[in-house]
Amino acid sequence: MRAVFAVLVVLGCLATVLSAPAPARRPAVKYGRSDGKKDVLAPKVMIVTMFSPETNVWLASKYKLTAINVTVLGFSSRFPAVGCNAAGSVCVMTTDEGEINAASTLSALTFSPFFNLKKTYFFITGIAGINPKLGSIGSVTFARYAIQVDLFHEFDARELPKDWPNGFVALGARYPNEYPGKFYGTEVYELNEALLDKLFTVASKAKLQDSPTARGYRANYKTRPAIQPPMFVKCDTATSDIYWGGTPLAETFDNFTRVVTNGTGRYCTTQQEDNGTLGALLRAAMAGLVDFGRIIIMRTASDFDRPQPGGNSVDLYLHKHHSGGYELSIANLVNAGGPVVDEITKNWDKVYANGIKAKNFLGDVWNDLSSEVKATWGPSAPESKLRRKRALAVKFARK
Ligand SMILES: *[C@@H]1O[C@H](CO)[C@@H](O)[C@H](O)[C@H]1NC(C)=O
Ligand SMILES: *[C@@H]1O[C@H](CO)[C@@H](O)[C@H](O)[C@H]1NC(C)=O
Ligand SMILES: *[C@@H]1O[C@H](CO)[C@@H](O)[C@H](O)[C@H]1NC(C)=O
Ligand SMILES: *[C@@H]1O[C@H](CO)[C@@H](O)[C@H](O)[C@H]1NC(C)=O
Repeated sequence: MRAVFAVLVVLGCLATVLSAPAPARRPAVKYGRSDGKKDVLAPKVMIVTMFSPETNVWLASKYKLTAINVTVLGFSSRFPAVGCNAAGSVCVMTTDEGEINAASTLSALTFSPFFNLKKTYFFITGIAGINPKLGSIGSVTFARYAIQVDLFHEFDARELPKDWPNGFVALGARYPNEYPGKFYGTEVYELNEALLDKLFTVASKAKLQDSPTARGYRANYKTRPAIQPPMFVKCDTATSDIYWGGTPLAETFDNFTRVVTNGTGRYCTTQQEDNGTLGALLRAAMAGLVDFGRIIIMRTASDFDRPQPGGNSVDLYLHKHHSGGYELSIANLVNAGGPVVDEITKNWDKVYANGIKAKNFLGDVWNDLSSEVKATWGPSAPESKLRRKRALAVKFARK
């Protein structure tokens, strides 16, 4: 029982899915604003979190995000409401964990009649695993790409042909590490790099929390940057409903990230939601309801995605609550994210109301957002199909 309890505590602490016992029948939910007002809210910043500890650290911050509480039809029953400050300019919402929860919740928000989100900055702030070659626990990362690394044919390691380095084959491909022959469209999302650069500069002046426990744990990794104090890093984020761990799988998904972004992306953080969140925001952007150039993904590192030299992957998973990384990653969400929220709200009229113009490609493999800039990734053909999609997207957005 104790072992089971310990595992449950670990799960709860590490952003994995922790299903509570079946709840009693829920009382009917009253949708709408807690203050009874009817006017539509147009927040400047919508902070998007994935589970309670990430939300609670924002609720406990100076922003007073419980002044207005909007219960939204289509949200998860565990996190039914968006919380906003009294001015309605800064809000926080919780997607609930995993890709399906993330996509459903963001869809519900963007099509909700309580909000006008056309100028809103979506600030995705959550904890994540980190590649020890690119950062350390407690670090703060900003992503340009979100790569989905669970759209694969998968074969068990015990059945693999001798020369296969891993058991994952991209859709429509024949061998591991081959370029996909087929896209679902959610494999890669590219975000506004000019916005990311600007806010990265703002955030990176913040002082990050560190602890003696984390310092001691990091030392096991022997080399930089894993052994260094929490730092700021620009690097991409990988999404998968499977919470994987260990070097072989990390290398598999590292390879896939490079392949699917034509060598321009490299994942440093691992999480379970962002491509779902972005998928829903992309659909809303096609409908003219949100601006895809106003999305920031900031992930803070709670644990390493592979063990220390000579370490064991399963041990890493079962014992990672001793690393001290979780507490740092939660605290550093607001330490680094607060300056971002302040920057956007304080310079709204001068800078952010009109948006930061993207210089890079924005969106997905179908170019559903009709980006004028050519992507540095994606299949070159079939052009006719991409063109047709583009035409449809433009027609729809103009309606
Ligand atoms: C919204 O209100 C409910 C109950 O009134 C409360 O439990 C919840 O914490 C509030 N949520 C936010 C985000 O303020
Ligand atoms: C997931 O989102 C990231 C970040 O925008 C993007 O780079 C990546 O291509 C996306 N992956 C998939 C599979 O959609
Ligand atoms: C990753 O790619 C490298 C270089 O192509 C290759 O040597 C290695 O075996 C691959 N690793 C896995 C696990 O696929
Ligand atoms: C990306 O790589 C694929 C597979 O090698 C290739 O077909 C495609 O043209 C490349 N895309 C770009 C934009 O270079």
